[in-house]
Amino acid sequence: MQENLRPETMERITNIDLANAFIEEQVEAVRAQVGNKKVLLALSGGVDSSVVAALLIKAIGKQLISVHVNHGLMRKDESENVIKLFKDELDANLIYVDATDRFLNLLAGVSDPEQKRKIIGKEFIEVFADEARKLEGVEFLAQGTIYPDILESVKQAEGKKAVKSHHNVGGLPEDLKFELVEPLKFLYKDEVRVVGEALGLPHAMVYRQPFPGPGLGVRCLGAITRDRLEALREADAILREEFDNCGLAEKVWQYFIAVPDIKSVGVKEESRYEGWPAIIRAVNTKDAMTATIEEIPYEILHKITHRITHEVNGINRVLLDLTPKPIGTIEWE
Ligand code: XMP
Repeated sequence: MQENLRPETMERITNIDLANAFIEEQVEAVRAQVGNKKVLLALSGGVDSSVVAALLIKAIGKQLISVHVNHGLMRKDESENVIKLFKDELDANLIYVDATDRFLNLLAGVSDPEQKRKIIGKEFIEVFADEARKLEGVEFLAQGTIYPDILESVKQAEGKKAVKSHHNVGGLPEDLKFELVEPLKFLYKDEVRVVGEALGLPHAMVYRQPFPGPGLGVRCLGAITRDRLEALREADAILREEFDNCGLAEKVWQYFIAVPDIKSVGVKEESRYEGWPAIIRAVNTKDAMTATIEEIPYEILHKITHRITHEVNGINRVLLDLTPKPIGTIEWE
């Protein structure tokens, strides 16, 4: 375990100069580790995998093969933005896999949150493994592991229990054996962001709010259906746009929409209009263990409510979740 702990002498990366020094050091270390071999990376578009990708592109260019799996549970335009940045702007060796049908077919009718997480986690590995098997000469797997992940596994190894399984990418199947490349494994999140900015990644990407591995899958509550998932995605995009417009996006730690599997009666153009409610959740926290509620000004809430109920098919009410953590977890599932 000891080699997995951050060296006590390691300076905290708080500015661009320190980040540049770290990048130079890691570029050398990665080149020394992988030589002229190929490296595979699951690029979700989250902060950690994006920073690893940018760092490895700098170190080994096209020897890095990034695979972006769209599980159909991404937020609006998210996959498109990953492609635009990495393929079009950074000229990355990027494989895009649209696996929406694979995931949604498996999830059809499944309402238990932990079961949903397990299905998404397992299928993610299978889709990724399928892509990996098609490639030749790959000997390394890069991962966006950061120091809190290492500390979390140490805790779990000591037998401490988690509230949710937080299933993301588990181990790959036996036939796929890679040596790991984990250049961020001693960094805390704030340091990863400084390194990301030093690598030239866009501010919005480096400072984006956390997004769970199972994506909108744990926000489309209960058994996921395509129409409710689409309504959730559109409503969430409106919330994010309005938070961007009024400056809340810079201030609030995490904000999103959840859509439960409940219909209520509404009225539209003088006719009965049954629809789902969109639930707004906006929380602030330091470490996600406890969270408080952001007090969103009423005029903004009215605007969001008006837009969501008028622009999103199938949503006829907007609700605000005022529950701190504890007692509510941040996600509804
Ligand atoms: P909870 O809901 O447990 O969430 O209060 C705490 C933080 O973790 C995120 N979260 C997840 N992240 N996989 C992830 O990668 C998951 O399965 C998962 N579940 C919750 C949540 O968005 C919040 O930031």
